[in-house]
Amino acid sequence: MSVLITGGLGHVGSWVAYQLAKQGKRVIICDMAASNFDRLGLDYLEEVRDQLVLESIDVLDYHSLFELMLRYRDDLEGVIHGVSVIAGPNFQTRPYKHISINASGTLNVLETCRILGINKVVNMSSGAVYGDAAGPQHEAMPYKATDLYGATKIAGELYGMQYTDTFGMDVRNARLFFVYGPGKRPSHMHQVYQAIFGPLEGLDNIQAPNGSEQALDWTHVHDTAAGIVQLFEKDSVSHRNFNISSGVTVEHLEIVEHVADLIGKRANVQLGPGPFVVRGAPLDISLAKQELGFSPRFTDIREGLRDYWEWLKDIRD
Ligand SMILES: NC(=O)c1ccc[n+]([C@@H]2O[C@H](COP(=O)([O-])OP(=O)(O)OC[C@H]3O[C@@H](n4cnc5c(N)ncnc54)[C@H](O)[C@@H]3O)[C@@H](O)[C@H]2O)c1
Repeated sequence: MSVLITGGLGHVGSWVAYQLAKQGKRVIICDMAASNFDRLGLDYLEEVRDQLVLESIDVLDYHSLFELMLRYRDDLEGVIHGVSVIAGPNFQTRPYKHISINASGTLNVLETCRILGINKVVNMSSGAVYGDAAGPQHEAMPYKATDLYGATKIAGELYGMQYTDTFGMDVRNARLFFVYGPGKRPSHMHQVYQAIFGPLEGLDNIQAPNGSEQALDWTHVHDTAAGIVQLFEKDSVSHRNFNISSGVTVEHLEIVEHVADLIGKRANVQLGPGPFVVRGAPLDISLAKQELGFSPRFTDIREGLRDYWEWLKDIRD
């Protein structure tokens, strides 16, 4: 059987694809970046390349998405939806476009699955659905959007829950939080990410406008992907929404110190006052632990940073 992953060449999606392929599954990756695969630097996917089918598709192109999913329908166990414009300062620069990708893109995937009888969908959502509610935030807490991105993730979850209630589908929302690790180069990210993780890649002299007064549960991408795979593979679930994160908050300035200790040098990085994004932390991950057997490996961020550094060193060599 196969699993179809939208956004399967993104940071999280690519590791979900890797983990599923390592189990011997065929993975259909639907991602606008598929035609650029060789230039993306996702070296870990080479190991499982034979099990991947790459399809370049825009989820806003409903007709093409439908035709593509029709082609694979008979062999599909389900769909993992990971296309999104992620949170950050870039989001509000093109609000209509970015809201459309997140909200209409999710709707297009759900609607195609409904018509084609593909029952199981895991939607990559976000802890942004809690807004600035103080942590630990558990799944029963009410929705609160503190930015446009959060509003789109709430919309996507609500579509999924209504498709479940109305059409009998099995849509599950994985609420992810601040992912870091192999597959994403700090130099390709926003300034706060660069200031925190950039020295692992050799970056120096970085001034981020904010972020010094924030602690978040940064989550190593291997743990994020493992939680999504566990949620996808569970036969039946008692809840629709599952927090997936490290569950451990770390101050940004503490991460800067850990990175300096690791590389043996203090880079010139500065984080300006205030938080990077308006969020509470940490997510309460006890439901995922109990029901899915989720057990994040990198709860000590120093181990996650070391693993990230190894990957960044490898791709520089
Ligand atoms: N990265 C995080 O810290 C984080 C935190 C919470 C939630 N999430 C959620 O997890 C999911 C994955 O995040 P990520 O970090 O892997 O994102 P990413 O930006 O690395 O990957 C997104 C992928 O979607 C593809 N894509 C974008 N627009 C598309 C379109 N219109 N059609 C087809 N493909 C398109 C991109 O090419 C990219 O490969 C998203 O839903 C995001 O909201 C991420």
